[in-house]
Amino acid sequence: MNFKKLNLPEHVGIIMDGNGRWAIKRGLTRIVGHKMGVEAVKKTINYAIEIGLKVLTLFAFSTENWKRDKKEIDGIFKIVEEYLETDFDEYNNKGIKIRTMGDIIKLPKKIYDKLLECVNQTCNNKGLVVNIAINYGSRDELIRAVNNLIIQGKKSVEIEDLKNNLYSEGLPDPDLIIRTSGEMRLSNFMLFQSAYSEFYFTKTYWPSFNTKSFYKALKEYSKRDRRFGGNHKKI
Ligand code: IPE
Ligand code: IPE
Ligand code: MG
Repeated sequence: MNFKKLNLPEHVGIIMDGNGRWAIKRGLTRIVGHKMGVEAVKKTINYAIEIGLKVLTLFAFSTENWKRDKKEIDGIFKIVEEYLETDFDEYNNKGIKIRTMGDIIKLPKKIYDKLLECVNQTCNNKGLVVNIAINYGSRDELIRAVNNLIIQGKKSVEIEDLKNNLYSEGLPDPDLIIRTSGEMRLSNFMLFQSAYSEFYFTKTYWPSFNTKSFYKALKEYSKRDRRFGGNHKKI
């Protein structure tokens, strides 16, 4: 697994899917699946640091996930909150800068406060940016951006205006988007930012995603010929 030979991305976005199915397959509750999902997040963050990734965006909860049972929703937020509580110091020491993407004000107060605290305390860190997409929906983000621009009095807008009003303001577009669990859709994830992203789909359920899985995705990415509408390299 020599990542040094690879042409690495700067920004990886991950649609962490399959926690529920991972658990049900093992006769466990969906909540256990979400708990084990956090273990995969830890491995992913550590590997991202090791390879020198600049930005890691993790899709944790979508604007559509409110359709789920309250018990599951509450469970997910509790798991995220506890994770931030226990691992924050270690991440801060490692220079991680935490950002969020999504309408976090609508989250329960406890997790909202925790997220803000993490963002504020790490805002000057220079290491890996861990961008947590939580209560995030790309359509919601775009509408919010347009409304911001209207409030600013804009009569017409440039691409940069829109970019500067997205949650991802200041971040490079994701070079690679990984989705686990075999589903092949974006489910409202970074629709604008993914215009030229490379996609990697794996059947692996998120809790089983590990360093080796991440390396496999990076290896595949490394082989892609990104043209951005330009010429083929060799034909
Ligand atoms: C992803 O796993 C986590 C969230 C969406 C919060 P799921 O909970 O969607 O797991 P599956 O897709 O039902 O297996
Ligand atoms: C996408 O997964 C959202 C997250 C991973 C947080 P979903 O499980 O909500 O997506 P669908 O319903 O399969 O499209
Ligand atoms: Mg799912």
